[in-house]
Amino acid sequence: MGRAGKRSAWLSCSLGTDHPLFPALGEGVLNGRCKLMPRRYEFEEALLVHVKAEQRATPKGSSSPDRKLAAAHRPGRAAAMALWARILSTRAASAPRRGRSPAPAAQQQPRPQGARPPAGARARARAEDKGAGRAGAPRAGGRAQGPRSLAAMPGPRTLANLVEFFWKDGFGRIHEIQQKHTREYGKIFKSHFGPQFVVSIADRDMVAQVLRAEGATPQRANMESWQEYRHLRGRSTGLISAEGEQWLKMRRVLRQRILKPRDVAIFSGEINQVIADLIKRIYILKSQAEDGETVTNVNELFFKYSMEGVATILYESRLGCLENSVPQPTVDYIEALGLMFSMFKTSMYAGAIPRWLRPLIPKPWLEFCRSWDGLFKFSQIHVDNKLKDIQCHMDRGERVRGGLLTCLFLSQELTLEEIYANMTEMLLAGVDTTSFTLSWAVYLLARHPQVQQTLYQEIVKNLGERHIPTAADVPKVPLVRALLKETLRLFPVLPGNGRVTQEDLVVGGYLIPKGTQLALCHYATSYEDENFPRAKEFWPERWLRKGSLDRVDNFGSIPFGYGVRSCIGRRIAELEIHLVIIQLLQHFEIKPSSWTKAVPAKTHGLLTPGGPIHVRFVNRK
Ligand code: HEM
Repeated sequence: MGRAGKRSAWLSCSLGTDHPLFPALGEGVLNGRCKLMPRRYEFEEALLVHVKAEQRATPKGSSSPDRKLAAAHRPGRAAAMALWARILSTRAASAPRRGRSPAPAAQQQPRPQGARPPAGARARARAEDKGAGRAGAPRAGGRAQGPRSLAAMPGPRTLANLVEFFWKDGFGRIHEIQQKHTREYGKIFKSHFGPQFVVSIADRDMVAQVLRAEGATPQRANMESWQEYRHLRGRSTGLISAEGEQWLKMRRVLRQRILKPRDVAIFSGEINQVIADLIKRIYILKSQAEDGETVTNVNELFFKYSMEGVATILYESRLGCLENSVPQPTVDYIEALGLMFSMFKTSMYAGAIPRWLRPLIPKPWLEFCRSWDGLFKFSQIHVDNKLKDIQCHMDRGERVRGGLLTCLFLSQELTLEEIYANMTEMLLAGVDTTSFTLSWAVYLLARHPQVQQTLYQEIVKNLGERHIPTAADVPKVPLVRALLKETLRLFPVLPGNGRVTQEDLVVGGYLIPKGTQLALCHYATSYEDENFPRAKEFWPERWLRKGSLDRVDNFGSIPFGYGVRSCIGRRIAELEIHLVIIQLLQHFEIKPSSWTKAVPAKTHGLLTPGGPIHVRFVNRK
C-alpha cells in the first residue's frame, strides 16, 4: 500500500468514515485530484494535526454543552478545509504578492520571550526612568535611594474599588476614575480588583518608558477568557488574543500587508464606493426626516459604514449594510456584536468569575460563548465564500488576483483556522472603534462651525468642491488629519490599555516585578494641560506641524498604541475616516440638531457616546 493509501486506511479506521473530515480528505487529497503532488503530503499532515486537535478537544462520549457545540461547528469547517486543500494543491498560478516579501529568517529572528531588550533600549529606559521619577508619585518618607517596592505605592483600597465599580457604575466611568485616582494618588498607583493586582500609569513619560522598553512579543493583559473560548471550540487565537511566538508569526504576516499607509492606499477606490453608498443613504434619511435635514443617532449610520468599509478590505466583498434591506447574515452579525458589547459587563465577569463558580452563575460565560460563536460564524461564511470564488477561478484555469484575503490564502503563511480567527478579531476591532471616532468627529465639527469652515475651505482650495479624494490627496488637507488626532485625543476609543511586564522595570521610582499587570491611562494623559495646553479645548490646529523639525509626537495621546503591538488596522481606520470626512464636508454643512445637547462620554468596553448624536446635514449650495 502506498503512503496515501496507508494514511487513508488509518484515517478511516481511526476516525470512522463518518468523521466530517474524512470526506474532505478522501475527496480533496487522497483521490489523486490534487495537481501538485509535493503539496499533498504537507497538507495531509496539516489535516491530521487538525483532526487530532479536534479529537483532543472533543473526546468520544463527551457530553458537556461546550463539546456538543464544538461538534456542531465542525462540518462547515471540514468542507472549507477540503476547499482549502484543493486551493493549496492547485495553487500553480498564484497572484503576485503585494507589498514586501517577508524578510529572510535571519533578519526576522525574534528575541526569545522574556529576553532583555537591546542594550540601547535598556539604557534609554534607565535614562528615562530618572526623569520618570520626577513625574511620578512623591518618594515615600523622603527616602531617595533605590527604587521603592510596590508596598510603598499609593492606591485605592480594595473595598473602595469594589464600591466604586460595582455600586457606583464604575465600569461606565473608567475614564473618569483614571483622572480621579490620578488626582488622589499620583501618576502611578496600584489597585486591587479581587484577586487581580494592577499598577496604573497616568504619566506621559512613564507610558513612553514602558512601551519603549517592550520586548519582541509584548503581552496584552486579561486575554484568558478569549483564549479559553478558542481552546474549547478548537479555534485559533487571532492577533488580539494571541501571545508569544504565535502572535509574532501572525503579526509578521499581517503587518506586511496592512500596516503601512501605502499598503492600504490601494483600497481608496473600494472605500470610495462605500462612501458613495453612505452619502446616498444620508440623502434618503434626510428625505424621511420632518425637517428634511436631521439624521438621528448618526452612530447607527457610521456603524454600517465602518462595517461595510472594513469588510470590503478584509473579505474583499460587500455586505450590503447600507442597503435598504440588510442581508440576514449581516443582521445576525450585528446582533452578535451587540451582544458582545451590551453584555460588556457580563463578559468582564465571564473572565473574572472563576471556572468553579460557573455552574452557579452560568449566564455570563454562556453569553460570552454565544456571542463569539456568532462572530466566528459570520467571518467563516465570508472567508469560505472567497475560498469558493478562488477555487472557481482556478478550476477555469484563470490567474487569481486579489486583495488581503486572497493573498493570505495563496501565500499559505497562515492556516485556515488562523485566517478565520484573524478575520473575526479584525472585524470586531475595526467596526465600533471607527464608527465611534467618526461620530465624535462629526459631533465636534457640528459644535465648532469655525473649525468646520476652515477645514471646508482647505478642502475646496486644495482638492475642489467635488473631487473624489484618494489616499494620495489626504496630505493636501493637513487639517483633516489634525481633526482625527484631536478627536482621538479628546475621545480615545480605548481610554486605557493593558500590558503584563515581561521583565523587572523601575518606573516612577518603583520596582515593578516581571509579570505585573499594568494599566496605561491614556484618557488621563490626554487631558493633562502639561501635555496639551488648554487640554479640554477642541483645537485640531495643535497637531499641525509648523516645520519639518516641529514634531508633534506626544505619548500623552497614542490612540492606536505604540510599538510592535500597536493597532494593525490603524491605516485602514485612518483611510476610512479621512476620505469620508472630506466627502461629507464637500456635500454637506454639518450642524447640531436642537435635540442634541452636550453628549458625555461613557465607557462601555470602549469609550462611546453616552447618548445619541443627532446632526443636520445641510446641502451645500
Ligand atoms: C479609530 C479606529 C481604531 C482605533 C482608535 C484603534 C485602536 C487600537 C488600540 C489602542 C489597540 C491596542 C494597541 C496596543 O495594545 O498597543 C489596537 C489593537 C488592534 N487593532 Fe485597532 N483601532 C482602530 C481600528 C482598527 C481597525 C480598522 C482594525 C482592523 C482592520 C483594527 C485591528 C486591531 C487589531 C487586530 C489589534 C491587535 C493588534 C495586536 O495585538 O497585534 N483596529 N487598536
